[in-house]
Amino acid sequence: MDTERIDLAVIGGTGLYRLAGLEAEAPHQPPTKYGALSGPVRIGTLAGRRVAFLARHGEGHSVPPHLINYRANLAALHALGARRVLALNTVGGIGERYGPRVLACPDQIIDYTWGRVSTFCEEAGSEVLHVDFGDPYTPALRAEILAAAAAAGVAMVDGGCYGATQGPRLETRAEIARLRRDGCDLVGMTGMPEAALARELGLDYACVAIVANWAAGCGDAEEITFQQVLDNVAAASTALPGLLEALLARA
Ligand code: HPA
Repeated sequence: MDTERIDLAVIGGTGLYRLAGLEAEAPHQPPTKYGALSGPVRIGTLAGRRVAFLARHGEGHSVPPHLINYRANLAALHALGARRVLALNTVGGIGERYGPRVLACPDQIIDYTWGRVSTFCEEAGSEVLHVDFGDPYTPALRAEILAAAAAAGVAMVDGGCYGATQGPRLETRAEIARLRRDGCDLVGMTGMPEAALARELGLDYACVAIVANWAAGCGDAEEITFQQVLDNVAAASTALPGLLEALLARA
């Protein structure tokens, strides 16, 4: 397996199945003891740096949030040499600063998911890790992302609480009202257990959330269509190449 250091691993969410500008080498799909990854890890060069990209839902969006093999995805990125992970997560906006097409770098998570394998500490005889998770996203990497956004002239909201829901259905208005009362600003289906598993592996991990729609009952939300989600992700993603270039320039 190729274990040359990777400067940055990027995990793409809904609507992000390839990384623009990545001059890809052959795809890697290493076997892991946790099973199969969502799809190939594409390792290539971006802005002169070695970058890996993995589509979280598979390149054909075939893996639903609750069936993503988060452990395999992260274990493979780690084994391939990644130490910093930028998670791109498509989300709904709850707080008024988080309307469609906004980019945000959240700093907190509330986990509402259930039934997902959420730890590597399950093997008989292995030491159980109670990792610190008070700051679920690596503060230093968040600071780098925000500085890169400022340098690249990319508008990004600093902070926010990501509420991770089970999916794949969207939420009811009552569920979103509850998330709002809990303090969530954003809602998505894939933020957990990915962030916690990354922490267990000792990876630096932070999220750039791409707001695709107002969550149910928020803003002017009526019916949320998948086309609306894809259109808004595509529009907001035009800022990503500049952001990544600025981030990699700081690596
Ligand atoms: N809820 C949960 N996940 C999402 C949403 C939403 O409204 N939009 C995009 N991902």
